[in-house]
Amino acid sequence: MATPADRPPEPSLVDRYGRVATDLRVSLTDRCNLRCSYCMPPEGLPWLPAPSVLTDDEVVRLLTVAVGQLGVTEVRFTGGEPLLRPGLVKIIAAASGLTPRPRLSLTTNGIGLDRLAGPLRDAGLDRVNVSLDTLDPDRFAQLAHRRRLPDVLTGLAAAADTGLTPVKINAVLLRGINDSEAGDLLRFALAHGYQLRFIEQMPLDPQHGWDRSQMVTADEILAQLEAEFPLRPDPAHRGSAPAETWLVDGFSDAHGEPAKVGVIGSVTRPFCGACDRTRLTADGQVRNCLFATDENDLRTPLRDGAADEELAERWRAAMWGKLPGHGINDPTFLQPARPMSAIGG
Ligand code: 5AD
Ligand code: SF4
Repeated sequence: MATPADRPPEPSLVDRYGRVATDLRVSLTDRCNLRCSYCMPPEGLPWLPAPSVLTDDEVVRLLTVAVGQLGVTEVRFTGGEPLLRPGLVKIIAAASGLTPRPRLSLTTNGIGLDRLAGPLRDAGLDRVNVSLDTLDPDRFAQLAHRRRLPDVLTGLAAAADTGLTPVKINAVLLRGINDSEAGDLLRFALAHGYQLRFIEQMPLDPQHGWDRSQMVTADEILAQLEAEFPLRPDPAHRGSAPAETWLVDGFSDAHGEPAKVGVIGSVTRPFCGACDRTRLTADGQVRNCLFATDENDLRTPLRDGAADEELAERWRAAMWGKLPGHGINDPTFLQPARPMSAIGG
């Protein structure tokens, strides 16, 4: 792939709109042991064929290029469910040995974290984000099609005990299912010292069941929270963080800092202008946006013996083509062909 003619000779992952991607999301598998309805149908999906999935060594090679040549400073491992990847601990240990050492985090559903939190921390993992949408076991089973709420709660506690902190919780509210639980989830998070963030449901489900009129909006979530808690806008600079945060008066976190709650209004309060993300799928495709409809293949050149500099150049070209926004609010919006589980949160 030739370098686009209008791209400046800049080593980092710049795009046409002045953004620089320094935060890499790596999906390690498209498989999952839950079936959250906004992400996967109950019967699962046709999984990526094994030979197309990057090996552990191939993942580490691309991480080395991203950190060593492209200025990536933060690596988040996602899935599907990344704890299902057999080589996860080994990949994290290799990532923590890179120079300069990137910050390392993991987005997980928490199942299996009771066993893996210690080994992951020892390998160099800094933090986890655990997905938790409800505290009601029956509702959990309805939403995720598996009776696994106790495993998630055990996993959360293990992450906190092990020091994978701050432990963040991601929650998605669904109309008519868990849309009355915002306050309960926040009470739970405050009691345990977890940082809770609500994410507006995005059109990424393969069933194409997303419906704007059904979406629980950031405004609605805030109104629910404000009815139960004294919230104050967080004076801290937001930077490229997608969550808008509020301080919860009268509560502090595990370190004695004021407790916070976040709302990620991906649809109604888009933050694309400050986006610093680049993504790598489990089968080695660079995506410049969660909602991109095209991808750039790094697996083929990697397997054909490309040098680091060629891989870096392809990655730069992929990011140069990043669009200014996700376009969900345009009438012509097209949902990406890949579902969230195969892109990585
Ligand atoms: N909309 C919003 N959030 C989603 N997630 C998965 N699918 C969607 C969606 N369609 C969340 C998961 C997890 C993170 C990776 O993204 O709950 O916390
Ligand atoms: Fe699994 Fe996460 Fe998708 Fe739920 S949202 S089915 S936990 S990959």
